[in-house]
Amino acid sequence: MSDAELADLKRLVLRLTGIALGDAKRPLLVMRLADRLAHHRLGSFAEYLELIEREGADGPEIGAMIHRVTTHKTDFFREPHHFDYLNDVVLPAALANGCRKPRIWCAAASTGEEPYSLAMVLAGFARRHAGVRPNLLATDIDAKVIETAERGVYGVERMAGVPSSLWQPHVDMGKGKYTGQVRMSPALREMISFRTLNLTDDSWPIEAGFDAIFCRNVLIYFDPETREQIVARLKAMLKPGGWLMLGHAETLQRQSVHFERCRPTIYRLADTSPAAADNQHAGTNERRWPGDPALQRVEIVVGDVHASETPTQVRTLLGSCVSVALWDDVSGIGGMNHFLVPGMSDDGPPGRFGGHALDLLLAQLAELGARPRRLRAKIFGGARTLRSDMGVGEENIAFARSYLEGAGIPIVSERCGGDAALEVYFQTHDGRAFCRRRYGTFAPAGEVRPPRIEFPVLPGSGPRPAQR
Ligand SMILES: C[S@@+](CC[C@H](N)C(=O)[O-])C[C@H]1O[C@@H](n2cnc3c(N)ncnc32)[C@H](O)[C@@H]1O
Repeated sequence: MSDAELADLKRLVLRLTGIALGDAKRPLLVMRLADRLAHHRLGSFAEYLELIEREGADGPEIGAMIHRVTTHKTDFFREPHHFDYLNDVVLPAALANGCRKPRIWCAAASTGEEPYSLAMVLAGFARRHAGVRPNLLATDIDAKVIETAERGVYGVERMAGVPSSLWQPHVDMGKGKYTGQVRMSPALREMISFRTLNLTDDSWPIEAGFDAIFCRNVLIYFDPETREQIVARLKAMLKPGGWLMLGHAETLQRQSVHFERCRPTIYRLADTSPAAADNQHAGTNERRWPGDPALQRVEIVVGDVHASETPTQVRTLLGSCVSVALWDDVSGIGGMNHFLVPGMSDDGPPGRFGGHALDLLLAQLAELGARPRRLRAKIFGGARTLRSDMGVGEENIAFARSYLEGAGIPIVSERCGGDAALEVYFQTHDGRAFCRRRYGTFAPAGEVRPPRIEFPVLPGSGPRPAQR
């Protein structure tokens, strides 16, 4: 492949796929495209490029070329923390917002390992939450990999390293001449719509409103400008408050102003809807924060933990989730978490995530210097925010109580249950908590309640101890 042929091929690939090939790819391209030259009995790459130009954008050869210039490396449960996050945070949040048909988009699906891993998590979640019917869209530019994905048949060795509890319930094991192969279950295959889609196309024939988009390990192939444009368009496809998952080597640049970075490679779109604005208090609306305005203010959402040694108000909004607040009166160190017990992974014991949220809070407090034996607890939340989830809030409360009992931490007060969301402001230094019910957002259908705001102060530790 001459320099001129390589330059022409790079331009063509950039125009068709957005992929910016480096000069170092020349040997790879020669190797991958050699069979296409042989197939068409062509003597040079220049002739091959002419053929593609002649056939045009809808010609039969373009697909074969795209298949050879794209990289399809993928695995089941690749970068596994994203799948835990989907299970533990994204899906519970959708449910807490009343969404029973969460929509997920896997935007560079390759041969299907990624969308099937997502579908396994979604199926597990749907099994534990009656009436939840997730929907998964899986797209890729390459029609050939999408064909493989749709078939859903893999060598069992592709599951190496993945706990069998995650995949075995969702596959049919091959027998006879199919021994050594697994086929994705009909339930998984039905959950996913497979389509070819070029992320650099001017328009995407897809309905917006995804709860999460997995666009992993594809942006790295584009130049920075293309990357920015695609992220801006992915943003428009998300629901307010939706999540964007990127690959391990990918980060947001200019578009990051619209997103909050929740974890490395996990971003959440800011929720600017009127409902969110009402529920958000944020530091921008000072009057909504009760108590001393001089206090440091921190907001947490589901999955978060915040502990502090300096006087801080930790605010959160709870539906059926639970927050446990802990504080040590003597040192003035305290903190709060926000978690949901159901939605645990299939591979862990019940309460794995809740236990983790409490372990983390205790560890942070200990690191800051709080003494475990001086800790006292308050529990908030666990409301019945959805009719069909009658037991979820109760389960969360029961879990928090039993964990605290096991840890020997006295519970001094609870503000739990009910059928409305609860807004909590917990003061880490003195254990005081301001709560108000938020009717309207979560009230059961058909029941109209006047907006009611109350700020009862839950008993804290009283006056500061003399030794402080
Ligand atoms: C390295 S694989 C990543 C697969 C999977 N997301 C993962 O992380 O395991 C990259 C995929 O992006 C696809 N791709 C490349 N350019 C694309 C484009 N312009 N539009 C859509 N998909 C593209 C490739 O066909 C390939 O399947």
